[in-house]
Formats: sequence, structure tokens, C-alpha cells
Amino acid sequence: MDKVLITGGAGFIGSHLCRLLIEKGFHIRILDSLAPQIHGTIPTGLDWLNDHRIEFIRGSVTSRIDLENSLKDISHIVHLAAETGTGQSMYEISRYNFVNSQGTALLLDILANQRNHSIKRFILASSRSVYGEGAYVCYKCDGGQRRLFPKARPAGQLVKHQWDPICPGCGHSLSAVPTREDDPVLPASIYAATKYTQEDLVRIACESLDIGFAILRLQNVYGEEQSLQNPYTGILSIFSTRIRRGLELPIFEDGLETRDFVHVSDVVRAMLACLVSMKPVNSVINVGSGVATTVHDVALQLIRSLNGSSSTKITCEYRLGDIRHNVADISRLRLLLPDAPCVSLEKGLNKFSEWVKNQPLPEDGLDRANAELRARNLMA
Ligand SMILES: NC(=O)c1ccc[n+]([C@@H]2O[C@H](COP(=O)([O-])OP(=O)(O)OC[C@H]3O[C@@H](n4cnc5c(N)ncnc54)[C@H](O)[C@@H]3O)[C@@H](O)[C@H]2O)c1
Repeated sequence: MDKVLITGGAGFIGSHLCRLLIEKGFHIRILDSLAPQIHGTIPTGLDWLNDHRIEFIRGSVTSRIDLENSLKDISHIVHLAAETGTGQSMYEISRYNFVNSQGTALLLDILANQRNHSIKRFILASSRSVYGEGAYVCYKCDGGQRRLFPKARPAGQLVKHQWDPICPGCGHSLSAVPTREDDPVLPASIYAATKYTQEDLVRIACESLDIGFAILRLQNVYGEEQSLQNPYTGILSIFSTRIRRGLELPIFEDGLETRDFVHVSDVVRAMLACLVSMKPVNSVINVGSGVATTVHDVALQLIRSLNGSSSTKITCEYRLGDIRHNVADISRLRLLLPDAPCVSLEKGLNKFSEWVKNQPLPEDGLDRANAELRARNLMA
């Protein structure tokens, strides 16, 4: 029987993946440190780990011994364990690099030094952040014919509230178009740089070790079970707490920045498809909805979905390392999952809201997280 190791399997995406894989008859082992930033200092809500079909090892991907114990008799690996906050990564550079880059290197190092590794498939949860600003066109210069890949917006531009990337030819605002897997990679944050490092390590090592691999560039994943305690990532979870507390929702820039929100159930379906595919995927796949939604719109939809009374406030503030727009080209994903995505944003927000309403109400940590950025001139 195939046995899957899921690093970071006790987290948001991992919990959904475990349920799906158990349903499909896989045996599962989880290696997870139960990081306090995600699970709290006394982890709660993890009763599902007691299922007899799950082996749980509390340990870290930065420990050779923990990894060696976790890898015994494993046939498939889904590597999820990571530090995940874009803003936080800009001042916790060493920690992000250690967990994300070194943790992945250590995992592959062990496989490379086993006489006969038993791994058939390796799935990496990468991130759309590796593209940086992603793909744009200029309608003024050439009617949108040529695809452009602007660099990260400099602080000097943001301070003037010029939010959109600028055309180097005519100086007008560029327009975002769906980003494809073969587009250039230009990480704009330390988090993104570590995710791209993970990609390189996995691709090169798996090719040399003859392990079929898939690198999934996840867009903005949301849904039930996303940590409500982590103020550093997960915009909808963070907003949900503020809505339940009747607090205002601060929206960066002019609120018209866009994200590609994909429900977690669509993400784990893509992971399953890569695990069971008869031929190795050996490629990069965007996993998103293919739909761009402005942050202001999603905030309003969430307030409605939670029957909240919060107002939104466009703050015109910005964080260095953030990108302006994001929408994925999902043609490659549809070759794997022709019906993707299955869950619309409206349906997904309703599912998420129903779950949130039954959770303990956490403290709101957003103001603290933003204060940490302001103190380091990473937000203004
Ligand atoms: N959620 C998203 O929107 C999103 C988007 C793009 C990519 N991703 C990637 O997907 C993966 C999973 O993300 P998630 O949203 O489920 O995050 P999460 O924070 O909910 O889960 C991560 C899990 O990893 C564990 N972990 C952290 N450090 C560890 C370590 N050193 N050793 C072992 N376990 C450790 C945490 O305890 C947690 O349970 C990450 O690699 C992330 O970069 C997520």
C-alpha cells in the first residue's frame, strides 16, 4: 500500500489533503512541528490527528533525525511545511531561509544518500509569489500585443501612490494579464525567493534521483481550517476575525489590487491528481481559479457572507514585497483536472463563513503585525 509523507500536514492545506487521501485509501504519515504561530502555544483543534490511519510525528523539517524517521517506508512525498508570511519574511530572513530552503535541502539530501530510495512521486507546494509582479501588457503602446514582466514596484513609486506597474515605453499604467508557468520568475519578497529555491532544489534533485515530481504554484488559497491565529498571512482569515469583532477592515493601496482566490478543496484535488497520475508530471502547474478579484471586493463579499457590520477603509498604505495584481493562467491545470475550479468564490466564502462562525473568536493580531512592518520601514 502506498504511504504518503506530508510535511506540514497538520496545517491548513495539509488537513484537507489528509482527509482526501484517507478517503482514497492512502496511508499517511505527517511530520509537523505544530508551529505556535499557526497552532497557538497550546495546539488545539487537532483531534483529527488521532485517526488510526494517520501516523503523526511531531518534529521539524530542519532536523535530520526527524526527517529520517519520517521517511521510513514512504512511497510519496507532499512537501508543505514552510514559513508562509510574505511581509514577515522581509525581516525574519534567516528563519524563512532556514525552514523553507534548508528544510527542503535536508529532505532531498537524505534521499540522495539512501542506497535505494523508495520514492515514486514528490509534490511541492510552491507559490505564485515566485513570479513577482507577473505578466502585463500595455494597451497604449501596442494594443496589448507584447507581454511584459515588470520588476517589483520601487518604494519611490509607491510613496507617490502610483500603484500599477509603469510601461517603460510610454510611462502609462500597465494592465495585468494571466501569468503562465513559462513566464519569467522574479521573486519580490524573501518568502518568494525561498519558494523559488525550493523549486530549483526539487527539480534538480528529483531529476537526478529519478523521482517523478510536480511543482504546484498555489495562488491565494482560502477555506475552512486556515489558521485564525496567524496574523501574518491569510487575508480572509485575518479579515474574518476583524469582522466578528466589528472592527474596520483596512485595505492597502487603493483597494483595486487583485488576487486569484482558490478554495482549498480545489488545491487538494490537484495534489491528489499529481499523486495518482500514471505518468510523472515533472512540471510546474499554476493552481488557482483563473479569476482576478479585487481585495476591496473580496472584503465586501466576506462581510456579507458573515452577516457582519464592519466597514472597509482604503488606507493607501503599502507593504514592500507585495505585488499589485495576480491572476493565473490555468490551462495547464485543466489538462490535469478538466473541471477545475469546482468551487466558485461565492460558494467558497459561504463554506468558509459557516466554519468560521463555529470557531472560538481569536484575538485580532493584524495591528501588531502591521506595527512590526512599520517599525522596520517595510510599510508606509
Ligand atoms: N495558503 C496559501 O495561500 C498558500 C499559497 C501559496 C503557497 N502555499 C504553500 O503551501 C504550503 C502549506 O501552506 P498552508 O497554507 O497550509 O500553511 P500552514 O501554515 O497552515 O501550514 C504549514 C504547516 O507547516 C508546519 N511547519 C512549519 N514549520 C515547520 C517545520 N520546520 N517543520 C515541520 N512542520 C513545520 C506548521 O506547523 C503548519 O502545520 C506552504 O508551503 C506554503 O508556502 C500556501
